[in-house]
Amino acid sequence: MAILKIAKMGHPVLLQRAAEIDDPTAPDVQALIEDMFETMEDAQGLGLAAPQVHVAKRLVVFHVPGDESETPSPRVLINPVITPLSDDMHLSWEGCLSVPGLRGRVPRFDEIRYTGMDETGAPVDVTAEGMHARVVQHECDHLDGRLYPTRMIDLADLVFESEWRYHLPLEQEDEEEDYDE
Ligand code: NI
Repeated sequence: MAILKIAKMGHPVLLQRAAEIDDPTAPDVQALIEDMFETMEDAQGLGLAAPQVHVAKRLVVFHVPGDESETPSPRVLINPVITPLSDDMHLSWEGCLSVPGLRGRVPRFDEIRYTGMDETGAPVDVTAEGMHARVVQHECDHLDGRLYPTRMIDLADLVFESEWRYHLPLEQEDEEEDYDE
């Protein structure tokens, strides 16, 4: 296990399309998953995509927001495919471990279905909404070289975290989520 270095906005690995993984059970993939768990916990992130640790493979790990199971463990999603289940989108605040110190309001689909494989190679087929759907959309964007600022509608909503904490308008409070991905 190791804590990996996180690539920051400007590094080319964050701008490329990551490659499919043929065998999730391969030792190098299993080791990467363990290291990504450890790196995500160390950085106190809600999610992490392999390109963020300089590995251009289609693999993300994330916590499901509000997971109140006794031992919530991060989910693994390999070769994901996202299908929006409606056209409805909402703006909410996001952060990203590759864009440290900033927050931005980003539109995301409210409800999605995502498929792929887990760490054992078993199929994943999940319907998600709200923050869960947001996290998955954010992480999977990393696999296609997209960082959240490129999804933003209004760059006036790109702010320093230190200011955001004090000046977030009251009417946006119920949308507020504080996390890094
Ligand atoms: Ni991110």
